[in-house]
Amino acid sequence: MNPIEIIRKKRQGGKISKEELRFLFDGYLRGSIPEYQMAAFLMAVYFQKMDFEETNHLTEIMLHSGKVVDLSSIPGIKVDKHSTGGVGDKVSLILAPMVAACGVPVPMISGRGLGHTGGTLDKLESIPGFNTRLTLEEYTAVIRDIGVVMIGQTSEIAPADKRLYALRDVTGTVESIPLISGSIMSKKLAEGIDALVLDIKTGRGAFMQTERDAEQLARTLIAVGVRSGKKTIGLITDMNQPLGYAIGNWLEVRECIDCLRGADVPDLMEVTYALGGLMVYTGGKASSIGEGIRLSRQAVKDGLAWKKFCDLVRRQGGMVDMVEHPERYPSSRYVGEVRSPTSGYVSSIDSLELGFTGIALGAGRMKVDEEIEPKAGIVLKKKIGDKVRSGEVLAVFYTDRENVIHQVAPRIESSYVIRKNRVVPPRMIHSMVDARGRHGWRVKGK
Ligand code: URA
Repeated sequence: MNPIEIIRKKRQGGKISKEELRFLFDGYLRGSIPEYQMAAFLMAVYFQKMDFEETNHLTEIMLHSGKVVDLSSIPGIKVDKHSTGGVGDKVSLILAPMVAACGVPVPMISGRGLGHTGGTLDKLESIPGFNTRLTLEEYTAVIRDIGVVMIGQTSEIAPADKRLYALRDVTGTVESIPLISGSIMSKKLAEGIDALVLDIKTGRGAFMQTERDAEQLARTLIAVGVRSGKKTIGLITDMNQPLGYAIGNWLEVRECIDCLRGADVPDLMEVTYALGGLMVYTGGKASSIGEGIRLSRQAVKDGLAWKKFCDLVRRQGGMVDMVEHPERYPSSRYVGEVRSPTSGYVSSIDSLELGFTGIALGAGRMKVDEEIEPKAGIVLKKKIGDKVRSGEVLAVFYTDRENVIHQVAPRIESSYVIRKNRVVPPRMIHSMVDARGRHGWRVKGK
């Protein structure tokens, strides 16, 4: 087989066989197919897409590029959640310990920042000492001991995604349904779960900006999951403004610490509790999704979710002292405020632009091997629907990079649209999707 032929075939919209995909991926992982040929193939997939059979083959090949963990010796229904990616999407850091505190084991393999979105791994690694590179044995031991574990793709687990993820990030090939499906499902099917809950983001800051594309992605992910024998269910949630207030790794960890200690950040916690409700229900610890939400809220209220988070940090080598006293974290060299030029109500916030502004500040990567600055980012002071007076602070940014300061403030300011009339904040949960199709979301579970 010839890689150039395969690239050309996809470029012309042809269907790639499982053998051709395997040839390409084996060669890429062994080093006989260079990055530039894989990048060209990814771009061809981006434009020409893949049908369901190709997507399934891609997922299987990526999944079997490494080991598939067997957690059957650990009691309980193991459930994980994965998000398709958003700006300020820090849900996993609250959700995983919260659901584990409700008695459902949560084994989680996450990714780094991708495109304009942040990644759970980068956030966890902003906690000094936190080790996301556990061996398979260590991974299994942590979930057995404390009911939750959070790691990244390794050379043992989902290595194809580890390589491809970094390549897609810097070649403009992220927003592709088959590539997102292969990436997410290969990690998830490798980690030893029984069931999966998906958070499919839609809106300006999501990879799927329209509701239609988000639904198509949801249906593809769910079909791949179900075909592999895993109960898979998803929520389509709003990403028209950043989730919560913080954007940037340590800033987001800090916001999660506050929430785990009982602070209410309404949009963030609404999504977290909804996903928690689904996970606790799917994990067999609640008789309904509503009860799952109530148990999740209770776990936060009683401090059990916070305690579980501290157990996780300690068990994976992180400095618990730093999460207990986040004010001790070193601060950025430069801190700037962005003020509103006018009075009115915030009617929209361009989360895509804020995601890229966060990268410019140092919170994400522009090249595969770029170092990120854990404490860089943006903290919003106003969100959609908030009243704002002329001169009031809209957002604060943090960076060590002197050369970006002058461009950042205007970018943040122009991300905000302020109008005279009152604005209603967006509905966070648009719908639920399962193997039978799409359903309305009316669950409350106060
Ligand atoms: N999350 C992933 O793990 N992969 C993607 O491609 C997008 C979001």
